[in-house]
Amino acid sequence: MEIRWHPALARYSTGHLALNWCGEDRPIDTIYLAVLVSVFVAAAIVLVLLLWIDAPYGKHGRSGWGPSINPRLFWFLMELPAFAAFGISYLLGPHALSLWPLFFCVLFEGHYFHRAFIYPLTLRPRQDGREPMVLILMAMTFNLANGYLNGTYLSSYAVHLYSTDWFRDPRFSAGLILFVFGVALNKHSDHVLRHLRGPGESGYRIPQGGGFRFVSCPNYLGELIQWSGFALAAWSPAGLAFAIFTAANLVPRALASHRWYIARFPDYPAARKAILPGLL
Ligand SMILES: NC(=O)c1ccc[n+]([C@@H]2O[C@H](COP(=O)([O-])OP(=O)(O)OC[C@H]3O[C@@H](n4cnc5c(N)ncnc54)[C@H](OP(=O)(O)O)[C@@H]3O)[C@@H](O)[C@H]2O)c1
Repeated sequence: MEIRWHPALARYSTGHLALNWCGEDRPIDTIYLAVLVSVFVAAAIVLVLLLWIDAPYGKHGRSGWGPSINPRLFWFLMELPAFAAFGISYLLGPHALSLWPLFFCVLFEGHYFHRAFIYPLTLRPRQDGREPMVLILMAMTFNLANGYLNGTYLSSYAVHLYSTDWFRDPRFSAGLILFVFGVALNKHSDHVLRHLRGPGESGYRIPQGGGFRFVSCPNYLGELIQWSGFALAAWSPAGLAFAIFTAANLVPRALASHRWYIARFPDYPAARKAILPGLL
């Protein structure tokens, strides 16, 4: 199979897009393409905004952002739309029962099942911890778009996944290794963070061990590696949009958290970087 990369927009005309990276032309719905492009544009805007304004939740929470809500409900409401939008969009596609789309469906939905239904229950929120509802609306918008794009892509447009020999492709194995490593780093780091507080405690401590030996936010680094791996393994433009949006969201937050740790803890490890070991 010859694989050629053609930038999506270069081949776009009157509602059709040639997905030549799959070696086959497929018509793509105009709405789908518009949402896909919007996510790339939104990523650029979010990156610039978040370099100026720290998203006001968790350790960067502050008053003046309107009504607020319990942190567990906050996470549930933010993440549920991704789980639902992906599931519905995926099931509507003609290849929903094909092996490789199903494989990637399990990876995506497994992540969001955990984030929406399990992660909120494992949190140890601050005593006075409330998170602003306005962030839920923003996250819901992105998560609906992201779930729709990824679910639809896998079961409707990913022609290269509909043949059973995709597992021989080096993009699949390299991407899957990245995905698994990213999940492990993200989950371990979140586990360390959650256990810095005893039950009923509210304060903040310096996290140690694992990825924290190198960076202040290994949970965000893991998330970035995870979704980059997903995009590569599925060879998916929707996955790429997700990975880029994740970077636009989490790199500025990691920089802000790193500054926050340094300002708050005089004994903060000097060699630790924000998100990229040894670099940033
Ligand atoms: N894909 C995306 O675009 C995206 C966007 C955002 C988040 N996420 C993922 O969602 C998960 C949570 O993100 P987050 O931004 O909430 O992470 P976070 O700010 O690191 O907080 C995670 C949890 O640990 C607690 N915590 C953090 N640092 C602490 C410290 N030094 N001492 C004691 N407790 C501490 C927080 O409490 P407080 O809430 O009280 O601070 C919170 O309960 C991560 O896995 C992240 O990768 C993904």
